[in-house]
Amino acid sequence: MTVFDQVLQEVDERCREQHIPMLGSEKAEFLAGLVRKVEPSLIIECGTAIGYSGLWMIGALKSVGKGRLITVEIDTGRAHEARENFRRANVQDLIDSRIGDAAEVLKTIRKPVDFLLLDNNYGNYFPCFQAIESQLTDGATVVADNVGIGAAGMADYLNHVRSHHESRTHWFETDLPWVKRDAMEVTIYRTSH
Ligand SMILES: C[S@@+](CC[C@H](N)C(=O)[O-])C[C@H]1O[C@@H](n2cnc3c(N)ncnc32)[C@H](O)[C@@H]1O
Repeated sequence: MTVFDQVLQEVDERCREQHIPMLGSEKAEFLAGLVRKVEPSLIIECGTAIGYSGLWMIGALKSVGKGRLITVEIDTGRAHEARENFRRANVQDLIDSRIGDAAEVLKTIRKPVDFLLLDNNYGNYFPCFQAIESQLTDGATVVADNVGIGAAGMADYLNHVRSHHESRTHWFETDLPWVKRDAMEVTIYRTSH
């Protein structure tokens, strides 16, 4: 097993033991497949937790040989733990880990974004989307997690992307201790809509 795989396994185990939210392998494999297909130059993630999804996306970026990740977490302790996990996995050079409210941090990013993952508090999905919208490239991929269990809390976001862009819901059976079935919304962002 590589050091990277070892760290990923340890992060998975720690999330399960401590009930720290994470995607779980079913959704993470799907997400990594999307990253490999899109080959983005810049991924923005809202909701780092301790770095599980970030590690999966960085693994995909490394396999295609390009791209970087900016990930934002409001909980300082989790962000520091994520940074330590990225360092142990030896991928810290590809990741810019920021601490703060994602909707505020995203307003300060002024670079083209071709991949966005929304996985923070549900009510912040639409504010985050709006904060980065001017930087989204035509055809950018926007993935929203917890669309099955959290639809009511993110209704403004879902109504918007479903009526203005090409948007599809993907369902997953998961083996997480806290949820067994959930969905992700994958949206292809169009600048003319
Ligand atoms: C579902 S977890 C993220 C899981 C992570 N993406 C993974 O799969 O490993 C949601 C995270 O969003 C963070 N969060 C909540 N509100 C936030 C906000 N306004 N800005 C940034 N992060 C936030 C929480 O502290 C929590 O760690």
